[in-house]
Amino acid sequence: MNRRHLVTAIAATALAAGIAPATAQTFPARPVVMIIPFAAGGPTDVVGRIVAEAMSKNLGQTVVIENVAGAGGTTGSTRLTGAQPDGHTIMIGHTGTNAASVALYPNLRYNPLTDFAPIGLVNTNAILLVAKKDLPASNLSEFAAWLKANERSANNAHAGIGSVSHTTCLLLHAIIGVKPQSVPYRGTGPAMNDLVGGQVDYMCDQVVNVAPQVRAGTIKAFAVAQANRNGALPDVPTTTEAGLPNYQVVVWNAMLAPKGTPAPIVARLNEALRAALADANVRTRLADLGADLPAENLATPDGLRAFMEAEIAKWTPVIRAAGVTAGN
Ligand code: MLT
Repeated sequence: MNRRHLVTAIAATALAAGIAPATAQTFPARPVVMIIPFAAGGPTDVVGRIVAEAMSKNLGQTVVIENVAGAGGTTGSTRLTGAQPDGHTIMIGHTGTNAASVALYPNLRYNPLTDFAPIGLVNTNAILLVAKKDLPASNLSEFAAWLKANERSANNAHAGIGSVSHTTCLLLHAIIGVKPQSVPYRGTGPAMNDLVGGQVDYMCDQVVNVAPQVRAGTIKAFAVAQANRNGALPDVPTTTEAGLPNYQVVVWNAMLAPKGTPAPIVARLNEALRAALADANVRTRLADLGADLPAENLATPDGLRAFMEAEIAKWTPVIRAAGVTAGN
């Protein structure tokens, strides 16, 4: 019997005896890499770092952030699917990388559902329509009129085709009936710098990224695309209050491992994620940024898998109706 078969036999025997394979018991044996598929400073990075810090305490090993940006988050996601499925490489994916990308990338190098081992949903985020301070509109109706009048020159910043900032503005453009220029960045962290500087005109971005800037008065927010106002920005009206009730969207961050990661290791990572989300400091920081904690049923591997399946089914027709793919 060769070594590989011997190791497999030991693991199977251990499992049969109700003893988790040694790997699960000694996991993590070294620091865990958390891939953030966007540039540092953006919402995915901010949420990832908050959660990683707390997970490090629970796991007893450092969770190290690795920003792997590009192609709307699909570059980093592809990197994860090629990593060793031993639990030492995980990722924060989201609505873009693991749902909208199916319709946006005809040649996507991974299957957002089957090439990952779901660990648990991390949080959901509201989307806000924000603009540079001196954009000549003071509310959503005036913004819509400005956008229609300046469709050819307006610059919409986002984090690449398939990113959340891209797809949620696709929705807005379809409702208003425009197809403006788009300016892709490696994340909405860098994009925010140019919005504050006035180099680009507007963004559809996650509350965790826009809240600090809106509070500082460096950009302005026209509406939050949800039924209720967001606790981090209570003065920003909802799209319903602002006259665009059809523009409502919630986006999410999910923690994922490569497919084939042993179930006991996925369970241990889920335990560390749950402990992080139960940590008072984490909850305070996420609440301050306007993020919402996941519903209990989505904080499990099986719950997340079913949720992502439903999200792919939801977003695919929306993207197809917008007539956009990464190639055009
Ligand atoms: C996105 O737009 O998909 C993300 O917000 C990008 C980021 O996290 O930087």
